[in-house]
Amino acid sequence: MRLEGKNAIVTGGASGFGAGIAKKFAAEGARVMVADINAEGAAALAEELGNGAVGQAVDVSNDGSVSSMAAHAIMAFGRVDILVNNAGVTHLPAPLDEISEEDFDRVLAVNVKSVYLTARHLVPHMKANKAGAILNVASTAGVSPRPRLSWYNASKGWMITATKSMAVELAPLGVRVNAINPVAGETPLLKSFMGEDTPEVRAKFLSTIPIGRFSTPEDMGNAACFLCSDEASMITGVAMEVDGGRCI
Ligand SMILES: NC(=O)c1ccc[n+]([C@@H]2O[C@H](COP(=O)([O-])OP(=O)(O)OC[C@H]3O[C@@H](n4cnc5c(N)ncnc54)[C@H](O)[C@@H]3O)[C@@H](O)[C@H]2O)c1
Repeated sequence: MRLEGKNAIVTGGASGFGAGIAKKFAAEGARVMVADINAEGAAALAEELGNGAVGQAVDVSNDGSVSSMAAHAIMAFGRVDILVNNAGVTHLPAPLDEISEEDFDRVLAVNVKSVYLTARHLVPHMKANKAGAILNVASTAGVSPRPRLSWYNASKGWMITATKSMAVELAPLGVRVNAINPVAGETPLLKSFMGEDTPEVRAKFLSTIPIGRFSTPEDMGNAACFLCSDEASMITGVAMEVDGGRCI
């Protein structure tokens, strides 16, 4: 029970890595708000988790929506100890000059602006508590970018720099900020990164992962649990690869 007594918000918690993180957090004793634009999925997972978990509809790219998520979490839990900025989207692989402005804006709004918005609405609460742990789910894409995913890659690079910048400013105030960099993982988003899900494309992606398998929601749950627990109380500003050696 490494997160006993902690209250956590996991954005994008209804699917994939977010669901893996929410499940691990609940198994380790945390009360979890599963926050997702997929309200039904969030409610269903919250019910499955039990332990006081709640489902919350949120669009992390919208200020009013994030504000109301934060208010609901503080009302439901009394205090928020952990925030996981996990919700994310990608454009389909394409030459960088052919990606539409609409896709660019969507990726930046969900992957980048969301970190600013959750900070605006939850960092004041954490500062007042003189405690908090924020985890940004970035990507190996921000460290070792693949071609044809340029603006997605750049959004994750932004997240890694934001993590370090937030960490250095908030450390004296008791708030830790870290990131994880997952490698390609078995989630519904994987197909969008690959463009097409064929044995050939899978083999190409796998060939770049020395450990020889895709990552899983359980891998992210385990890494997130450590970084958000008190065991990591001396760790802030890291962007930790969870990538089977892909970025070596
Ligand atoms: N799967 C991978 O290969 C991979 C690799 C590296 C990093 N990541 C990152 O991991 C994170 C989770 O991705 P995943 O693979 O689990 O994807 P996923 O599609 O399974 O889950 C993403 C969740 O985010 C939610 N979401 C999307 N837009 C939202 C919004 N505006 N507001 C609130 N919720 C929203 C979706 O409804 C979904 O439940 C993302 O940030 C992604 O960029 C994924």
